[in-house]
Amino acid sequence: MRHWIAPSILSADFSRLGEEVNAVLKAGADIIHFDVMDNHYVPNLTTGPLVLSSLRQAGFDCFFDVHLMVKPVDRLIGDFLGAGADLISVHPESTEHLHRTLNLIREGGAQTGLAFNPATPLQVLDEVIDLLDLVLIMSVNPGFGGQAFIESSLAKVAKARRRIDASGREVRLEIDGGIKADNIGQAAAAGADTFVAGSAIFGSDDYAAAITAMRRALKQTESSARPSRPAG
Ligand code: DX5
Ligand code: ZN
Repeated sequence: MRHWIAPSILSADFSRLGEEVNAVLKAGADIIHFDVMDNHYVPNLTTGPLVLSSLRQAGFDCFFDVHLMVKPVDRLIGDFLGAGADLISVHPESTEHLHRTLNLIREGGAQTGLAFNPATPLQVLDEVIDLLDLVLIMSVNPGFGGQAFIESSLAKVAKARRRIDASGREVRLEIDGGIKADNIGQAAAAGADTFVAGSAIFGSDDYAAAITAMRRALKQTESSARPSRPAG
């Protein structure tokens, strides 16, 4: 699958959100990662469906990857579908009935994602993989941008990759938290194909240079992953 870079608007300047989204799209972003936090499931508060729908009304027709860190989650799904979400990811801990929640997203016409915190085991994945378009591995504890990458997430990405491949389905594998040009290659080598980056992009003076540096690191992984020729 093609690699996608997904700037997280969590680190954008919210007083100029439309300009910021426009700037990262121009700089080469593939999709926009829209973090939603409720000060209950995670200890921080961000934006809701109104902000997404304002972006749609302003004419943005890009792919919006909505990451819901809210509990309870079901009631907000309809609002985000109506606001124009293309994909909605939920955490298994945020709903009592995950199967129903994923079906709500699908039946509403959006793609589904399931997000795993660093300490959340992957077991549930096998039960619902038929309902998924994306698996999201958190490489920080959710709640804040700019945190340090948790190294053990790489092994978890590799585990998730094996489960996805065993399912035979086309499911994207996203990594979220602490991704920068100097570790994105390792994340790709572990099996990720979609890379959320907040502070590494919005914290730089040149968004295009930050995204280009990530693409360059991804290219290097591709070539080092090429099999070596048999000796003799
Ligand atoms: C954290 C969010 C992430 C975050 C990533 O809870 O889900 O999407 O914004 O930001 P960085 O790339 O700065 O870790
Ligand atoms: Zn996120």
